[in-house]
Formats: sequence, structure tokens, C-alpha cells
Amino acid sequence: MTNTNAKNWDNYWQGRASQQSGNALIEVGIERNHELKKFWTKVFSNEVKSTKVIDFACGAGSVLEHANNLGFSDLSGLDVSEKALEVMSQKIAGAKTICAPVNLTGLESEAYDLAVSQFGIEYAGDKDSLFKAFKEIYRTLRFGGKIVIIAHTTDGVIMEGCLASLKQINLIKESGFIERSQQVFTALKEPSEKTNGEAFYELTQKLNDTAQPIMEWLKSYPELEAEKTKNEFMRFAYHLLESSHRLITHHTNYSETDALNWFEGMKEELEAYKGRMLSMTKAALSSQDISDLKEKLAAEYGPSKLDFEELKTLHFNSNTKPAAWVIRASKP
Ligand SMILES: C[S@@+](CC[C@H](N)C(=O)[O-])C[C@H]1O[C@@H](n2cnc3c(N)ncnc32)[C@H](O)[C@@H]1O
Repeated sequence: MTNTNAKNWDNYWQGRASQQSGNALIEVGIERNHELKKFWTKVFSNEVKSTKVIDFACGAGSVLEHANNLGFSDLSGLDVSEKALEVMSQKIAGAKTICAPVNLTGLESEAYDLAVSQFGIEYAGDKDSLFKAFKEIYRTLRFGGKIVIIAHTTDGVIMEGCLASLKQINLIKESGFIERSQQVFTALKEPSEKTNGEAFYELTQKLNDTAQPIMEWLKSYPELEAEKTKNEFMRFAYHLLESSHRLITHHTNYSETDALNWFEGMKEELEAYKGRMLSMTKAALSSQDISDLKEKLAAEYGPSKLDFEELKTLHFNSNTKPAAWVIRASKP
């Protein structure tokens, strides 16, 4: 676990909290997902309200919020990002926050009744860090306590979405669209003879050429309007094309500094989004990863000390492909 990891996540949660960039790349949709809400509501409904709950890599508290809504009050969230915890505190009054990595929590031993995690624990780092994170869960759980985890799977719809986004991110980057737009904007701010000649015509032609593959990708979606609302990366691409067009056609309304800063901001966002997609694909677990983990834990504690239920999957919208693993265990 590096400080860069914490910083990247801080930037992400900060961005979400302040609603930057025309609301483009800031919603992952986890909070409003109906299946996840149904899943956690069922998990918490089976527990007594005095249950002490700890959420590993809680982010802004999307899981604990469900418990809070059901009247649970002993809620703790652990995350490596201070910003995420700040946002959670604003949403769930009284929730305890712990800023630490999942594999080195500093939490008290045998203090919790229920350990949960949603697309969180698998971000621990490499396989050894993941093993350590599970050891932390085991240590901090009281005897008789339970573990419920939703984790990314290497073979599912979220992974497919990530890989598709990575392809489209590369398409935008390799097209050079943002750099060309910057060049056209700069040229437009220069004396008029520079914007009348052959060279300027060529520049705008090149800009059109760079926009072409992005537009073709967007047009390849049969239900574009519906997709735009569902798919955060598609919203980003639209925002990029539309706003660049507006900046260039109404260039007299914008200062060069503001416009160039905006383009740089879009490049940074694209890079950050790529980083998140890559970290998600790296975090995803295969069934073999989970078997190996269980074996290591059995070797560490003895097979009966952590009782795993059969591995299951969670599906979104009756999709046949799974969205995530459901890992359940108890500490008898
Ligand atoms: C995909 S988000 C999920 C957040 C939350 N569980 C949810 O479902 O909304 C992953 C979270 O893991 C946190 N994270 C990443 N690496 C971590 C680590 N090594 N230790 C603790 N938290 C970490 C990030 O800050 C982020 O909040």
C-alpha cells in the first residue's frame, strides 16, 4: 500500500464531493444500485440492531448507509482515504471513522460482530496484502461474528465494462483530440491572418479527423440517449466533444488561460479514470484466487477457525453474467 494509492483515492472522493467537471466522471452508480441495496438490506435485516458493524474500505459509506437507514447505530468505516471518510461522516452522523489500510488497521481485536466490504477489501494490493487484510478481519471479529463481502470478479459484467472503458480511453488518448483542440483554440486567439490561411484550414481538418473515431464509437450505440445516462464514460466523452466544440466556436467568450486549463483538466481526468479502471481490473478476484486465500487462511488458523460458506455470485438486472462475488464466512 503506497501513499500514492491513498492520494489517488483522496482525489477521486474529493472530485465526487465537489461535483467537478460537469458531473461527468464522478458517479460510479454504486450508491443507487438496486441489487446491491436489496442485498445489503437483506443482510442487515437478519441482524439485531445492536450489532457492531465494521466496513472495510468503506469509501463514502454506501454500505453503512443501508444499515443506518435500518436503525443500526454502532457503525464503523475504515478506508485509506480521509476524503471518503469525511463524506461518509456528513452522511451518517455518529459513524466512527478509521483512516488506515485494510491490511494494517490498528483496530482493537475481537471488537466487531459483523465485518462487511463492498468492492473494497480486494483493493488491499497484492495477494499477500489481501491475505493480511483477511487476517485483520479475522482478528478484529469476535467469536461468533460474521463476514459478508461483495468483491470484483475477473469474469463478470463490471470487468467487461472496465475493459471496454480502457479501450475507449485509449481511443480518445491516441486520437490526439484534446491536443488538437488546444492547438485550434490557441490559433484562434492569435492575429487573424493566422486563422485565415491554409495552415489553419489544415489544423481544423486534423481536428475533425481526430474527433471522427470518438464520434463513430458514440454513434455505434443504438440507444445513445439511454446509454449516455447509464454509462459514465460515455457521458464524459460527450461532455468532452460538446464543450470543446463550444469553446472553439465561441472562443471570444473564453480566456485562453481558462480554456487551456480546462483542456488540461480533461486530460488529467482521463488519466485518473484510466488509473481507476486499471486498479479495478487488478483488484478483481478469480475463483482460484479465493480458493488459494481460503487455503492459506486454513493453514494459518486451522480449517475450522474460519468457516466459509459456498462461494456465490451477485447478478445485476437478471444478467446471466455475474457482477460480483459474494463471500460469506463466520468465526465460530
Ligand atoms: C471501489 S471503492 C468502494 C467504496 C465503498 N466500499 C463502496 O462500495 O462505495 C474502493 C475503496 O477502497 C479504498 N481503498 C483502496 N485501497 C485501500 C487500502 N489499501 N486500504 C483501505 N482502503 C482502500 C478506496 O479509498 C475506496 O474508497
